[in-house]
Amino acid sequence: MSPITHIEDLRVLAQRRVPRMFYDYADSGSWTESTYRANEADFQAIKLRQRVAVNMENRSTRTTMVGVDTAMPVALAPTGLTGMQHADGEILAARAAEAFGVPFTLSTMSICSIEDVAAHTKAPLWFQLYVMRDRDFIERLIERAKAARCGALMLTLDLQILGQRHKDIKNGLSAPPKPTLANLINLATKPRWCLGMLGTKRRQFGNIVGHVKGVADMSSLSSWTAQQFDPALNWGDVEWIKNRWGGKLILKGILDPEDARLARDSGADALIVSNHGGRQLDGAPSSISALPAIAEAVGSRIEVWMDGGIRSGQDVLKAVALGARGTLIGRAFLYGLGALGEAGVSKCLELIQKELELTMAFCGHTDIRRVDRGILLPPHGAAPPAGPLPVRAYG
Ligand code: GLV
Repeated sequence: MSPITHIEDLRVLAQRRVPRMFYDYADSGSWTESTYRANEADFQAIKLRQRVAVNMENRSTRTTMVGVDTAMPVALAPTGLTGMQHADGEILAARAAEAFGVPFTLSTMSICSIEDVAAHTKAPLWFQLYVMRDRDFIERLIERAKAARCGALMLTLDLQILGQRHKDIKNGLSAPPKPTLANLINLATKPRWCLGMLGTKRRQFGNIVGHVKGVADMSSLSSWTAQQFDPALNWGDVEWIKNRWGGKLILKGILDPEDARLARDSGADALIVSNHGGRQLDGAPSSISALPAIAEAVGSRIEVWMDGGIRSGQDVLKAVALGARGTLIGRAFLYGLGALGEAGVSKCLELIQKELELTMAFCGHTDIRRVDRGILLPPHGAAPPAGPLPVRAYG
């Protein structure tokens, strides 16, 4: 096998090794996928300002996200069905994140349960919460996250209802896959994946199965969301959850400055500029294009992070320059996981850090905490702006 030199190599290998329905689940957006594509494309359009003859020794990508020390301004995003990209996927990804020194976020819709992942790691997990109609279940989920010593709660605000992803419907997405002829034929071409799955007992939604009643098809994300997710979720619920949880709160799925101000006023510790990886409102702007106005709107009273479209350390650097204190990666680490398991997630993190650190140096900086908009070339050849804008909160 030729060496893996960028995230695209991991994606190609994952596509070969992961059953089609799970690869497609990760690698698709809603409807026309225009927002999904824009997330990556808009990063490409941002140009960097090269500086020379600047001392590039002693480079550091270390920073903090909600007070947690991180090896770089990157955390692993919560992604549903991660344990279907590779057997025991959430445990493997959490271990790789811990070894590398970045936070791992477990999705409510994970295969491995909160307790299971916590038992296999030392660093506190972050737990992502979806709000269900069944408030007893939510209360118990929050208690379970506390008992598992989760370090932060990440409340997702942009998935009360599910955006339609054509491939998931066509593939009959379920966890575990149903033994249809098409699935069996596809699985026959994925021997490593099958062997891994035969060797684990973790094949269902671990946070859900055995903890709720009254859902007809436990294996289906779409029927589960349609029946259980609370379409009435509002800012009053955010306050209720904040009080119940009592720890660090991160609000995910903000795309508009007005919502960003509400997020800031809710007293949350961080907000994530996100369009859910282009999986919800197709036609919404890319995350990176929405970031500057949001960072400007909220000032330094809440940490502003972003996700969506990050496939390299250069993307991380651009996000930081435009006002993100931190970023999250989803597909980038899922490709690593599907390709090579835990080693693939480690590889993904190494690639991103290396790209980040080298690009930062080419732009004349050695400390990620000092990077600002001055590293970007404005469009149309205008003079680069002087000074940091917008200001990020470093506490
Ligand atoms: C949520 O879990 C999703 O599939 O985007």
